Amino acid sequence: MDADFKVSMSDMVIALSKAIDLVSPKLTGHHQRVAYIAGRISETMKLDIYKRTNIILAGYLHDVGAISLSDKNIILAFDNEDTTHAEVGYKLLNTLPELSLAANYIREHHTPYQKGQSFIEGSLLLGGQILYLADRVDILLDKSKEPLAQKDNIISWFKERTGNKFMPEVVEAFIELTHQESFWFDIVSSNLESQLKRLTGYIILELDLDGLTNVGRIFSQIIDFRSRFTATHSSGVASAAVFLADKVGFSRREKGLMRVAGYLHDLGKLAVPSEILEKKGQLSIAEVALVKTHTYHTYRILEKVSGLEKIPEWAALHHERLDGKGYPFHVNGNNLSLGSRIMAVADVFTALTENRPYRASMNKSQTTKILRLMAANKTLDPEITAIAIFCFDELNRLCRREQLLALDKYKKFWQLEKK
Ligand SMILES: [Fe+2]
Ligand SMILES: [Fe+2]
Ligand SMILES: [Fe+2]
Repeated sequence: MDADFKVSMSDMVIALSKAIDLVSPKLTGHHQRVAYIAGRISETMKLDIYKRTNIILAGYLHDVGAISLSDKNIILAFDNEDTTHAEVGYKLLNTLPELSLAANYIREHHTPYQKGQSFIEGSLLLGGQILYLADRVDILLDKSKEPLAQKDNIISWFKERTGNKFMPEVVEAFIELTHQESFWFDIVSSNLESQLKRLTGYIILELDLDGLTNVGRIFSQIIDFRSRFTATHSSGVASAAVFLADKVGFSRREKGLMRVAGYLHDLGKLAVPSEILEKKGQLSIAEVALVKTHTYHTYRILEKVSGLEKIPEWAALHHERLDGKGYPFHVNGNNLSLGSRIMAVADVFTALTENRPYRASMNKSQTTKILRLMAANKTLDPEITAIAIFCFDELNRLCRREQLLALDKYKKFWQLEKK
């Protein structure tokens, strides 16, 4: 039925990588540059295309585990040997079959090489070692200066550590690469994407709608698991949106797209620090402004992924209003699609009925009162709001059940982490 539905796995990885970059301005481009350097080293070492692609995907996501940690600066700290974020990243991604090899490489990306280890005995180690070196190259390279002028210093830095920190074969391949001026110019160029396409181009991992749903679910955990207050939000929104979509007669395929859109609606929230997500008091003007960027980022990141059909629109327009006074595009009633209106109601319903740092969850009468007000003042679509109110108990049960399952996963995830 959905045989024609295809989305590229690497496009989804790139989308997530861009979202992770939002966590700190210092990170901009770091993941992509590491993916490029690691990909070129893999090419020089003549690794097969399967391993090379997985090393590149791992490069794109290698610090994904750090977005849940309070001190994000540690990932760019020069002498950082903290492996917690490598372990967290592995756990976040390992459950996706398409990313399990990349997840294993990520787990090793801060593991120093020990004398005597050979890459034949552990190819996981090799992938991790390539990432480890690529990550250090990007951190060593001062982007405000000419890259070529820094070449000799960087090479000697690695030479000093060859065999006790970095694997000799990987350092050798890197040094071979450094003879090409274009390698250095590429790292700091703004069109790395085409280079990376060439390096991964032979393998196109494609996702059907079920595959994309699984990817969406894992991405929603990456978005939500940063704070206990958001730990289950996206799964609640996704299930509420699918419920409402069903009531208005959406097809099976449209409901599938709606679920993914629900999982991804707050992708841009990675730009919002967890301290703001957890703030008990009122947000300052600057903090409100920052929070408002999240749907903008969700849209701009997802619109680049081809084949997502209505997902970017349904996901990202959930703070637009019927009267055109929402954000960030001020799309008004006539132009606001039914899917986006559904997402807006699902988001408000879920938000009101869950705990927030500044208030406890609201009961049925409090929630329906606010929903009615929001429909009356043209914030929300009156018909969809009426369905949510009419089916309140059923919708609430479904939402709570999904959120309890997600909470269980959240608890298990961080418990594992503490061990
Ligand atoms: Fe790292
Ligand atoms: Fe890194
Ligand atoms: Fe939102």
